[in-house]
Amino acid sequence: MALPAPGHDRTALVTGASSGIGAEIARQLAGRGQGVTLVARRKEKLQALADELAGAQGIRAEILSADLTDPEARAALPAELEKLGLTVEILVNNAGLSTMGPVHRADRAAELAMIATDVLAVVDLTTLFLPPMVERGRGAILNVASTAAFQPLPGQAGYGASKAFVLSYSQAVRGELAGLGVSVTALCPGPVDTGFGEAAGLTTEEAVNSLPKIMWVEAAEVARQAVEGLARGKMVVIPGMANSAAAALARVVPRRFLLPLLARQHPALKQ
Ligand SMILES: NC(=O)c1ccc[n+]([C@@H]2O[C@H](COP(=O)([O-])OP(=O)(O)OC[C@H]3O[C@@H](n4cnc5c(N)ncnc54)[C@H](OP(=O)(O)O)[C@@H]3O)[C@@H](O)[C@H]2O)c1
Repeated sequence: MALPAPGHDRTALVTGASSGIGAEIARQLAGRGQGVTLVARRKEKLQALADELAGAQGIRAEILSADLTDPEARAALPAELEKLGLTVEILVNNAGLSTMGPVHRADRAAELAMIATDVLAVVDLTTLFLPPMVERGRGAILNVASTAAFQPLPGQAGYGASKAFVLSYSQAVRGELAGLGVSVTALCPGPVDTGFGEAAGLTTEEAVNSLPKIMWVEAAEVARQAVEGLARGKMVVIPGMANSAAAALARVVPRRFLLPLLARQHPALKQ
């Protein structure tokens, strides 16, 4: 299934477009002539990207600053797009973050903010923007999960569970949409050097050394494969051979062997 054709009144809404994978996905979509609406909290970063894309790619790009943990900010998005005269033809639920460390030492507010961003916002935005796509008989949704979706993750328990949710949710919704002209793709990257680990509280060294070099893929390459997979209507995109192999293995190794191994290796669980 191809991506919906670009149009002056059509947009690709990308959450978490102020940095990392989201910014690169916006660049990929703009490179295909899609007008983009960039969503995140940091306005200056969003505006800089919107200016870059409008200049270099000659496409329409605007920003909507929103904190996706806020239900009212999420609920306001359709009206803001309507005011701009835009329909969302492509939805990219990319915004996300992780907490680090054992749940028995977790900060309650931080855990809940993570679930609000990684889970609630994905469900809310899908529920808001999918019905009009189905009515039009066209649309594409890209949900950013992770290879953390394929096994429980001691040290990032809530994050791994959130990404397992995003993967399962994406596949189930896709199953409901057969023949309706709308496709759903889940992106499951392994480690990507975006500052994501540092934002979660790891040092750069801890983040880089937490997983073998062979598993790391550049954000631009992750985004290229994601948008290519979305355009082809793929169900799941896992960038990098090593990550595909690790994901396949993680699904079959018994949890009683896997969990102690993962707990021993996780930098946030080292004393
Ligand atoms: N990097 C990795 O190793 C990796 C691996 C697998 C999956 N992922 C997933 O990839 C996605 C993007 O992560 P990244 O690596 O690109 O990290 P990143 O560079 O830290 O980007 C995270 C993005 O999410 C946005 N965001 C966070 N909280 C938000 C909130 N409350 N409201 C609105 N936007 C919010 C941030 O924007 P503001 O701060 O401006 O709001 C930023 O644009 C996430 O879903 C992540 O789980 C990352």
